[in-house]
Amino acid sequence: MGSAKPRVDESGRTLIIGSTGFIGRFVAEASLESGRPTYLLVRGGLVSSCKAKASAIMSLKEKGAIILEGSSNDKATMEKMLKDHKIEIVISTIGGESILEQLVLVEAIKSVGTIKRFMPSEFGHDIDRAEPVEPGLALYKEKREVRRLTEGLGVPYTYICCNSIAAWPYHDNTHPADVLPPLDCFHIYGDGTVKAYFVAGSDIGKFTMKCLDDDRTLNKTIHFRPSTNLLNVNELATLWEEKIGLKLPRVTVTEDDLLSAAKEMVIPRSIVAALTHDIFIKGCQINYSLDKPTDVEVTSLYPDIPFRTVDECFGEFAKKIADVPKAVENSGYKVGIFSPESKPEALVLTA
Ligand SMILES: NC(=O)c1ccc[n+]([C@@H]2O[C@H](COP(=O)([O-])OP(=O)(O)OC[C@H]3O[C@@H](n4cnc5c(N)ncnc54)[C@H](OP(=O)(O)O)[C@@H]3O)[C@@H](O)[C@H]2O)c1
Repeated sequence: MGSAKPRVDESGRTLIIGSTGFIGRFVAEASLESGRPTYLLVRGGLVSSCKAKASAIMSLKEKGAIILEGSSNDKATMEKMLKDHKIEIVISTIGGESILEQLVLVEAIKSVGTIKRFMPSEFGHDIDRAEPVEPGLALYKEKREVRRLTEGLGVPYTYICCNSIAAWPYHDNTHPADVLPPLDCFHIYGDGTVKAYFVAGSDIGKFTMKCLDDDRTLNKTIHFRPSTNLLNVNELATLWEEKIGLKLPRVTVTEDDLLSAAKEMVIPRSIVAALTHDIFIKGCQINYSLDKPTDVEVTSLYPDIPFRTVDECFGEFAKKIADVPKAVENSGYKVGIFSPESKPEALVLTA
């Protein structure tokens, strides 16, 4: 297939850092779909030892992305890149282990002086409000450092707090949307009644794009709180059972279980356990009001644009299973009889 012609003439040139990652791919796809000139900063350029990464980059290139090679923590390269390509918007979706590498990027953006909007790698909770246990807190402290430098240098910003991704919230998996919801048993956190917002990856990308050119989002924190997407784990489990037409056992994961998993300090699994505790035990997505002058709720900005519902997202997961009873049978489970010893690996999506 031939590559689409890169769009280089228009304004709104957008550089995305981290497009080979979990959140980054949704943002890059949405940027290309919105028709804006999209530049992707890729470490190692088009040549990658990882087949999946190389094919992800090629697919984005075919849709019109312009691939630039480099690393966000190289100030001179970043300054030159931003100037040479007349970049106006920078979105970072770099992963949790590299958050502080954005400090150099913020300095480069400041020194170039022509960037109209910077979105640092946030894409989760309001990290100035939430106070998870370690090692979640260490990640938030790094994200706070990036916020403070951005604000201190007067770089125009928007923080995207999109809450949870619409998928089963596994407490040991950083990228739950890459995995099917359970086919063996549900892990229910606490009593399963604490609600959270579950947003489709494609909507994270789509609404991030809408916020970019919107004056109402300048120097603001954008909270994704679509009322249609507010569910607790018990409700998620019931929804998934309806989709697959099966009843699955429920196993309680207590607050202490999550705290112990966090204390193990196995990164990134323990970070996910700490954040799961914060969401589903402490209610970190719903235990505060949007009462700061910098708070903006996304559905108040775009009331006529619907969010994909969790029902739709789970429906799509279910479609990926050609024959659910067979998949369960193959997983080694007898539905309704839960045996922890026989727990299979999560079924990973290949489509
Ligand atoms: N709301 C949610 O449910 C949710 C879920 C997961 C993550 N998040 C958040 O979303 C953000 C992104 O996380 P993720 O899990 O999507 O990350 P990820 O999958 O680990 O991907 C990270 C990306 O950043 C790139 N990268 C890292 N350091 C770089 C550098 N110095 N220069 C250029 N590229 C660099 C990586 O490139 P390589 O391919 O070269 O390594 C990769 O493309 C984080 O802030 C995370 O906390 C939110």
